[in-house]
Amino acid sequence: MRTYLKKLGSASIVAVAMSVVVSAAFANEKVAGADYGNGKSIFENGKGDVPACTSCHGADGLGNDSLGTPRLAGQIYQFLAKQLDDYANDRRQDTTMFVMNANAKGLTPQDRKDVAAYLNSIGRNFSGKQLQAASGGSDIDALKESGTEVGVAHLGKALVNYGDGKRGIPACLSCHGHNGRGVDPMYPRIGEQKFNYLVNQLKKWRDGSRANDPMGQMRAVGEKLTDEDILNVATYLTQAPQTTLGNTRIPVEHLP
Ligand code: HEC
Ligand code: HEC
Repeated sequence: MRTYLKKLGSASIVAVAMSVVVSAAFANEKVAGADYGNGKSIFENGKGDVPACTSCHGADGLGNDSLGTPRLAGQIYQFLAKQLDDYANDRRQDTTMFVMNANAKGLTPQDRKDVAAYLNSIGRNFSGKQLQAASGGSDIDALKESGTEVGVAHLGKALVNYGDGKRGIPACLSCHGHNGRGVDPMYPRIGEQKFNYLVNQLKKWRDGSRANDPMGQMRAVGEKLTDEDILNVATYLTQAPQTTLGNTRIPVEHLP
């Protein structure tokens, strides 16, 4: 960063770079009133009747295709907290393993806040190669070999970036951001999410069995998607990096 600035030596570039740092710091600031230690303990050991989250979501919280569990690590805090509240209040049903409603009910509102804050922070201190290793997306070739039906990445990319005007499908990035990297506080990160989870959820939005989206925003998108669209976007998104063209760093790496 410093050598980069020295080389350019232009005041306007410095101003742009500084505004990037400020907005990234905002997105990554600590959640006020959350006990990260309690969140970590719940994640690793569970609490009371609630099993350790790691047992299904993986030691690094990156999810698991054979269980159909999502990546939680680095997900937007407000979104995670909302999902746990929605499971606790039966606004969302876990019809994949039928466990998340009981898990969320077994935690107090403060516990849910603590674990959501901790999950959001996982990976924050990774850098460079470590971060890449934790990108967590699914290995599409391996899934295909094991008999899972997958889609075509470049067709998915077109839908993510441009939508399909003729069929009334908006670009996913218009809400979920570049490569689905998430937009605080409402739009979850869907890039580098597990393939099977993405496919499952898109089908649930389409048939309305998941209906906890504010203003029906995701159901309106889901109902227009064909099976092929769903496989295509999931194939693209699971490997879609958070980086933008010409920038090797992801937003968390802009932190001071
Ligand atoms: C027995 C397996 C299991 C355990 C243990 C488990 N989960 Fe889950 N979790 C799942 C499954 C399966 C889903 C997807 C459910 C669905 O389709 O709605 C899920 C979904 C979630 C989601 C929704 C994420 C999203 O992107 O919308 C959150 C948040 C979550 N789990 C948090 C936790 C936390 C926190 C713990 C520990 C207290 C935990 N889970 C323990 C299986 C598990
Ligand atoms: C108009 C805004 C909007 C657009 C466009 C949009 N989404 Fe969403 N999406 C949302 C909102 C809001 C949520 C979170 C709902 C909630 O609170 O559970 C969501 C949630 C999701 C989820 C569930 C994530 C999780 O972790 O549980 C997936 C998957 C998803 N969207 C995929 C897509 C795809 C693929 C596209 C493009 C074809 C798309 N979305 C376009 C608003 C949008």
